[in-house]
Amino acid sequence: MSKVLIVGNVLKDVYLNLDGRGGEFELDGAGVPWLDVAFNGGEQRYFRRSSVFAGAAVTLEVLENFKINAKISGVRLDFKGGELESSSACADYRYILCYDDKISYLVPSQRSLTKWETPKSTPDWIFIDRSAVISRELTKSIISYLSLSKKTRLAIYLEHGAELSADELSLAKLANLIFTEEPLKEVKPRGMVCRIAPGVITMGTVRQKWQVEETDLMTHLTMHSVIAGTVFASLLVGKTEAEALQLAKLNVERASLTGTLTRGKLEEMMDNTSNIDTLRMMAKTLVAPGKGILAADESGGSIHKKFEQARIPDDEQHRRDYRNIFFTTPDLEKYVNGVILFDETARQESDDGRDFVSYLTAKGIVPGIKVDQGLADLTDDGAESGEKYTQGLDDLPKRLNEYYAMGLRFAKWRAAFEIVFAKDGTRLTPTDVAVAKNCEILAQYALACQEAGIVPIVEPEVVYDGDYGPEVSTSVTGQILDRLFEELNKAGVDLGACILKCNMVLAGKRFGLGPQSTPAEVGELTAGVLRAYVPKGLAGVVFLSGGQSVTQATDNLQAVTNDGPYPWPVTFSFARALQDPALEAWNGDNDNADAAREAFAERLKANSAALKKQ
Ligand code: 13P
Repeated sequence: MSKVLIVGNVLKDVYLNLDGRGGEFELDGAGVPWLDVAFNGGEQRYFRRSSVFAGAAVTLEVLENFKINAKISGVRLDFKGGELESSSACADYRYILCYDDKISYLVPSQRSLTKWETPKSTPDWIFIDRSAVISRELTKSIISYLSLSKKTRLAIYLEHGAELSADELSLAKLANLIFTEEPLKEVKPRGMVCRIAPGVITMGTVRQKWQVEETDLMTHLTMHSVIAGTVFASLLVGKTEAEALQLAKLNVERASLTGTLTRGKLEEMMDNTSNIDTLRMMAKTLVAPGKGILAADESGGSIHKKFEQARIPDDEQHRRDYRNIFFTTPDLEKYVNGVILFDETARQESDDGRDFVSYLTAKGIVPGIKVDQGLADLTDDGAESGEKYTQGLDDLPKRLNEYYAMGLRFAKWRAAFEIVFAKDGTRLTPTDVAVAKNCEILAQYALACQEAGIVPIVEPEVVYDGDYGPEVSTSVTGQILDRLFEELNKAGVDLGACILKCNMVLAGKRFGLGPQSTPAEVGELTAGVLRAYVPKGLAGVVFLSGGQSVTQATDNLQAVTNDGPYPWPVTFSFARALQDPALEAWNGDNDNADAAREAFAERLKANSAALKKQ
């Protein structure tokens, strides 16, 4: 394990949050408090005071948090149980005054000289910290030590890399690793250079953005020490440059005044970050332009009804053959990014003996899975009788892990809301209770998916099959989406890795009082509701067809497209409007499979075409 000798000054930062509530500040003509002038330590009250070690102590803490054997030259400062301990280690005090989000620094005009003590055992590295005051004497001591201890390497932090003093220059020439804030001008580095500029860290060919609010009360010195210390520590424990910069970003953005993060915690956060990046990319793939998602995920009950109506035997073989038609339709991958499967289908095989999941994946189509498990009665007070909630959360993490292992990369969960009116014209459903409960469940499901590495599609569906006008569909869809995004945010779901599947906004199928909505009306209302309630950061919006006729769904999709562009990709994820003509052509007889494929391909083409603006 590497041994590091830090050369630098331990500082104490005293943060005072000044209390302006007593009106003791002197005001200028414009009423602005004269913070620096008015402060009088004897009389001015502060409401919070905290003091923390800074300077070389921060570097020591970062290295300790990486379990690197480190000490500060000439300073007795211990790191015990995650805390720094010292009796008289501080070289200087700095006061950081905060009032009303404004920050002023009081720093000593004369900084203490940095100490050097010849180490008793040979360090692998000497790290000259940003806090070091580099005197002639210090420089001479270090250079002579390095000439004797050939194995010891040198890292140095040069705040003003563009204007080096003679001492800094002679140290920089020997350094194996240089941290700098400005581009180095006078020195040709013999080793690596890490530049810590405002907002971006660069090293070799890698760059990493970082951002810390000034009001987080970290001084520049502390921020830079956390970054440099973390990059240094990461490289010492064998991380790549890219990983080192990523860990430094995480540490400086998440550290608090009272502590930096341990290596273990940082690595855990990095894993989560890269998981989220992978999920976001997968979500983007699912809504890539010009293509949609095929919903071939009817549950046992739904497929039974479909087959019964068409007088097709409902057995496993027929269900497999039916799904096989869709998956083996030529050029499917040109029209769909993903296919949603039902559990049974995900375990069945295609004609060539591969399971359907591998078969679709090999075609470049992402396989997904329906994970909700039917409806249960909502019995809470306030729910109308007949209202339901969607079940399936209990063993969801276990099922998601299995689905992930099977190669499934996204999931779908549907919550259905029926609009029902009483005879006197008051709306009975959906009730607030039903909306709240289902949206909470959708958010729990979405979070569980993301934790399992699976992109969630959340599907709150206002069922089209009712007697209501377009304005009711507008307000109910809006109310549900509003609540849904509130719950998703509350649960901490990453919206960039989440897709919304929703109904188009249109009058109910049995709207007794008025006409069915025209495509132009559907386009305008749907666009309005989406824009009002769907946050910009969402990965995408896909539509269900919801029992609209085949051509109605396509025409309405075209109208929605025409009302774009939107802040997110918008596409189709139909079941019935893509499959129904194929079901009819197939009719349970595999001799008709090619005709069924043609009927399906026709709907694929028409709906993909409807994604282009007319
Ligand atoms: P429809 O397009 O038939 O509404 O089905 C979409 C879906 O996945 C419903 O959950």
